[in-house]
Amino acid sequence: KATVLTGITTTGTPHLGNYVGAIRPAIAASKNDNVAPFYFLADYHALIKCQEPDRVRQSSREIAATWLALGLDTSNAVFYRQSDVPEILELTWILTCVTAKGLMNRAHAYKAAVAENEQGDEKDPDKGVTMGLFSYPILMAADILMFKADKVPVGRDQIQHIEMARDIAARFNHIYGEHFTLPEAVVEEHGATLLGLDGRKMSKSYNNTIPLFEPEKKLRKLINKIKTNSLEPGEPKDPDTCTLFSIYKAFATQAEVAEIRQRYADGIGWGEMKQVLFEYINEHIAPARERYEALMQAPDHIEQQLQEGARKARAISVPFLKDLREAVGISRIA
Ligand code: TYM
Repeated sequence: KATVLTGITTTGTPHLGNYVGAIRPAIAASKNDNVAPFYFLADYHALIKCQEPDRVRQSSREIAATWLALGLDTSNAVFYRQSDVPEILELTWILTCVTAKGLMNRAHAYKAAVAENEQGDEKDPDKGVTMGLFSYPILMAADILMFKADKVPVGRDQIQHIEMARDIAARFNHIYGEHFTLPEAVVEEHGATLLGLDGRKMSKSYNNTIPLFEPEKKLRKLINKIKTNSLEPGEPKDPDTCTLFSIYKAFATQAEVAEIRQRYADGIGWGEMKQVLFEYINEHIAPARERYEALMQAPDHIEQQLQEGARKARAISVPFLKDLREAVGISRIA
């Protein structure tokens, strides 16, 4: 069985980008009998970006409810909270000691923070960069390697981290023998980078997201806010540079996409296209949204699922970590 693993950082409300990039392919994979799915709430990752405890707590609840509302079958999938599996943090340290600092210097998130400092007149390029941010790919490698993931469904922004996890695993295996499986990123063709309200990548940090389970009225409002260029109705439009179309494409079937492409050529008006997009997404998510709203009122049920997941996860992580400690020379003397 192939192990498929992915996680979401608990810093905000799940958005359409998380859904098409990671959650949707992960749920689809979990329905395959030849897959062993591991899906988790990356709450230790959250501390890197967010120092508001209430927000982390609320986000954990929302993300957990989202997975369950979308039909994750927890009898097959191991669904857990990262912080309930403390072996991941122990593994993080072991991996930290085989990871070259130079590898971390090249990580996108760190480089972006430095670049931003350098663009301003900030003298210290590392201003505001915590060690958490700097070594974040190692924590992520531990998430992945702990459960010997073969495939990791993610959006394009995470590919580099999976490659780093491979590098770190290969380095460890080279020194201590074959313990880790080398993971591979799985990137959906259409969901690789979903665009947000302003046409940039949809991202919590850009404040341009459309929450997946936004109530109908608010969803309509947000879709109406998506930026478009100023062509008039009746003028032919280029779908391939249009945010509305790119989002539509991430949801609709090929035949539907072809039809809308034609309507662009015929000069569909933006108001009309926004209506098409709204109706499509709204219909697509309505049943899950109802389940989500009910689940958000049932925290005990969610918690129970997570506890059960943690139990299954630790049945694997505890013995594996014991082997790894032995491998690096940390064990009892007698
Ligand atoms: P996070 O929480 O930022 O995002 C969760 C998942 O959603 C994907 N995603 C997108 N996909 C397409 N278009 C977008 N606009 C978009 N925005 C986000 C992300 O690529 C990701 O797959 N470090 C990770 C969480 C993590 C993880 C892991 C993932 C921690 N440990 C181990 C996989 C394996 C993160 O911050 O994702």
